[in-house]
Amino acid sequence: MLSPGDFDYICRLVLERSAIVLEPGKEYLVELRLKPLVRACGLADIGGLVQKLRTDRSGDLQREVVDAMTTNETSFFRDVHPFDTLRKIILPEMIRLRSTERALNLWCAAASSGQEIYSICMLIREHFPELASWRMNIVATDISREMIQRCREGRYSQLEVNRGLPAALLVKHFERVEMDWRIKDELRRMVDFREMNLASLWMGVPASDVIFMRNVLIYFDDAMKRQILGKVYNLLRPGGYLFLGGSETTLNLDSRFEQVKFDRTLCYRART
Ligand SMILES: C[S@@+](CC[C@H](N)C(=O)[O-])C[C@H]1O[C@@H](n2cnc3c(N)ncnc32)[C@H](O)[C@@H]1O
Repeated sequence: MLSPGDFDYICRLVLERSAIVLEPGKEYLVELRLKPLVRACGLADIGGLVQKLRTDRSGDLQREVVDAMTTNETSFFRDVHPFDTLRKIILPEMIRLRSTERALNLWCAAASSGQEIYSICMLIREHFPELASWRMNIVATDISREMIQRCREGRYSQLEVNRGLPAALLVKHFERVEMDWRIKDELRRMVDFREMNLASLWMGVPASDVIFMRNVLIYFDDAMKRQILGKVYNLLRPGGYLFLGGSETTLNLDSRFEQVKFDRTLCYRART
């Protein structure tokens, strides 16, 4: 049984280190997510874990708790429409806009296990062969060390590739590794994967033409959403676009963004 004091300790730790807000009522989630860590540490319960956290000087255990509390739900070409819009409208527009410098910067800001950024890479390889000779700077970040390791590995189970990945792309861009599928090196090499907390300093993220920051703002409070959107605003290159998740918006948070609707996708760009 998770005591109110231990729940409170975990909530504060997670908020301080990731800005993720755990509301009262999420005790079951804390218990569920921390159970494997409790076991791996040879402890009896979360009470024991909290005691260990209080004396852990290295910060490693804290990081592992935050890692365990992140929600990493994702899939290839998730929601479909944003990828259609990227292919039909945004990338052609960006290619026109940057045709002199022949360079594009893309940032995927909550990469999870990598399906989103690899969907973008496949889309680029399939539909924009001309970009092969451009300077492409594609960065994907996530707070979770475990997720960034998974991204770098690019290895997915049959169940994961069954979710959203067309068979033709699976056959073309992946190779079999035992029971799993691994994305080919050529696509893995397109992306620079980094561990990064959106709630702290943004190190090494280039000014970007396209930012995918989907399904992550929902975990933060409004003050943190404003802070992050403010930084996104400064990072978007002129004419650049921001993609958020279906239940996320800049409305009532940062009026310097305007919403642009393309077909069934809402995107955001800096007002001129
Ligand atoms: C639900 S997944 C979204 C994945 C992908 N963008 C998508 O829409 O399919 C949310 C991701 O945000 C990451 N995340 C949560 N808090 C974060 C933070 N403070 N900084 C960076 N990433 C964070 C989690 O680790 C998780 O992988």
